[in-house]
This record gives sequence, C-alpha cells and structure tokens, in this order.
Amino acid sequence: MKKLFFYCLVLLGVIFAFQFQSCQREPVYIGDLWVQPIDTLPIIIDTIPDDTIAWNLHPCDPDTVYFQKDVLPILISNCTMSGCHDVASHKEGVILVDYAHVLSTGGIKVSNPSNSKIYKSLFASGEDRMPQAPQPALTADQKAVILKWITQGAQDLTCDDCTTDNVTFAGSIAPLLKTHCEGCHGNVNPGGSIQLLNYNQIITQVDNGKLLGAVDHQAGFKPMPPNVSKMPACYIEQIQLWINDGAPNN
Ligand code: HEC
Repeated sequence: MKKLFFYCLVLLGVIFAFQFQSCQREPVYIGDLWVQPIDTLPIIIDTIPDDTIAWNLHPCDPDTVYFQKDVLPILISNCTMSGCHDVASHKEGVILVDYAHVLSTGGIKVSNPSNSKIYKSLFASGEDRMPQAPQPALTADQKAVILKWITQGAQDLTCDDCTTDNVTFAGSIAPLLKTHCEGCHGNVNPGGSIQLLNYNQIITQVDNGKLLGAVDHQAGFKPMPPNVSKMPACYIEQIQLWINDGAPNN
C-alpha cells in the first residue's frame, strides 16, 4: 500500500512537472517585437535599441500626404514668388508660405475637398488659372497630392525620411532641388535667370558658391527659397555634404 502511495506521488510529480513545462512557451517573433506568451497575457519584450527608435521617430507612411514634406514645397516653388502669394504681396488675400496661412487664406474645404479654392484654381481658365501663365500648370501628380492632402483632413503632419547617409546627386540632390526650386528656376522666367534643371546648370551655382550660400541663408546671398523659412536642416546638410565631396555627378 505504501508502495502504491509512493508511485502515485511520483506520477503526480511527473504530471505537475509536465504541466509546468508546458507553460514555458518559446517567445514568438512578431514584426519588430519578441512576444512572450504566458497564459493569456503576452508580455512584450522590446528588443529594438533605443537609438533606432529615436532615429526613426516619425517614419513616413507611403499612403499619407505630409504637409511639410509633400505639399508646402509645391506651394512655395509655384505660388509664393514676389507679386503672388508671399506675405508681402498676398494677392487676393491668399498667402501660401506656411501651414497656418494656407489654412486661414487658402479656402480649404475638408468637407468638400475638390471645392477648395487653392485646388479649384489649378484647373481654372484664363487669368484665374494658378499658377498664372506663362508659368506652366501644376502636373497631374502635384494636383493629386494637394487633393489627397485635403481629403485626408488638411492636417499638419510631419515625418522624417531625410538621411545624410550616402548622399548622391541622382538620389538626393536632384530630387531635392526639383521639389523645392524647379518651379522658380525652370524654363519659364527663371528667378535671377538661373535654371536648376540638370547637373550642368546646378554645378554652375555650386562653382560660384551661390547654391550653398543661398539655401543656407548666408550673408551676401539671396536667401532661397525667397520669402519663406529656410529648408529643414537635413536638406541643407545633404547639399553641404555633396559639395564637400566635390559635387560629383553620381
Ligand atoms: C518662389 C520662387 C523661388 C524659389 C522657390 C527659389 N528661388 Fe532661387 N531665386 C528666385 C529669384 C526671383 C531669384 C533672383 C533674386 C534676386 O536677384 O533678387 C533667385 C536667385 C537664386 C540664386 C542666386 C542667389 C544670389 O545670391 O545671387 C540661387 C543660387 C538660387 N536662387 C537657388 C535656389 C535654390 C537652390 C532653390 C531651392 C532650394 C531656390 N532658389 C528656390 C526665386 C526662387
């Protein structure tokens, strides 16, 4: 009888040990996180180093239109030249130099996005069309960005995808200048008779020292883009790094 009792104890012990072990489940890797399932409440173990999180605090979502990154450069490069929608000229009361002014003077209608004044004016005819002739109309892509921004609530969202790693002409500088400068330094009435459409035109402004002086708002240069705030520091750093590297056509 004592023996039977002993065997029962051993058996209970084995069952107990097995049960206990079955609770020690392996952590599961889900996306960026290790999840440790214990009973029904998973404990999330964060394995991302802190500097990675800080570096990419606001990663850009490809389906979201960001005002500072996507919309403002279009408005500045096409609408805020002197005589148009800078603060000093404020044609028709419309000022398009920053978020607050765009919202208060641009006739934005979140409830009926395509009826917003700044959007409708892109399709108007004659003198009402913006930008006015002889400036070319915005491209279909630029118009779509503005409409999508209003449709998504016309918010002042920011994100960070600018990096100073591996700066190249084709990958960084050309797209940067295309977005921020081409509207005023293209084929039609280029500002200061300076065109910035290709490597040769851009390198001319590097060699005479004006490109960096202008975007960095240095003394003795015309601040670019004019009538608005300096571009974000990361963009200016990209230009600086590329020039320090010998401004290669890479
Ligand atoms: C809203 C129109 C506009 C935008 C946007 C603009 N520019 Fe200009 N830019 C001008 C005008 C106009 C001049 C001539 C200014 C003058 O002579 O007073 C000029 C002059 C310049 C000059 C000569 C500066 C000097 O000191 O002589 C450079 C270089 C330049 N722009 C580069 C740029 C770059 C790079 C960008 C984009 C980051 C840019 N511009 C965006 C209108 C613009």
